[in-house]
Amino acid sequence: MNITGSLKRLSLSDFVIRDIIELDQKEFPRPWSYQDWQNLNWSHHCLFGWFIESEIVGFVLIGHVNGDDASHLLKICLKSGLRGSGTSQFMWESFLNTLKPLGIGSIFLEVEADNSRAIGFYTKVQFKQIRVVPSFYSDGKDGIMMLLVL
Ligand SMILES: CC(C)(COP(=O)(O)OP(=O)(O)OC[C@H]1O[C@@H](n2cnc3c(N)ncnc32)[C@H](O)[C@@H]1OP(=O)(O)O)[C@@H](O)C(=O)NCCC(=O)NCCS
Repeated sequence: MNITGSLKRLSLSDFVIRDIIELDQKEFPRPWSYQDWQNLNWSHHCLFGWFIESEIVGFVLIGHVNGDDASHLLKICLKSGLRGSGTSQFMWESFLNTLKPLGIGSIFLEVEADNSRAIGFYTKVQFKQIRVVPSFYSDGKDGIMMLLVL
């Protein structure tokens, strides 16, 4: 499969949102229900889908309030068959380019302390670990807070 693709900003009314929710439920460590997605405050969140040959293969969701120069990376997910292929970097670079006009200067995130693949990816794209948040997750797992200054 071609690993380059294109990024599109999406809204709840986009027909591909169901594919995103399916990808989230199948492939994200802590997926949201359909209702969670419906309840999202869309004026404070931006969702981007990564398309390869018109198929949605990944997505990035951030929380961002207009005028704030910080944003919060809530979800990044790539189809498992494409991981390790370089696709995530194409998606990430394209995503960063879309942030420039929004005036975003930093991105925070939390990641499960045992999600070593995601931590490896974030470190590769220059995130720095800020601190460990004990029992950050509802099942008691620790979270690692990371920050990228753009
Ligand atoms: C997070 C995600 C988008 C990253 O994409 P990816 O294609 O897997 O990432 P890459 O392979 O480019 O980068 C991962 C890096 O971590 C390293 N890595 C991979 N597995 C690892 C492991 N088990 N332990 C340590 N490092 C690991 C890799 O070597 C790689 O670095 P390299 O390219 O320098 O070799 C993808 O893994 C994903 O969708 N995961 C499921 C959803 C998820 O967990 N999201 C994050 C929640 S906070």
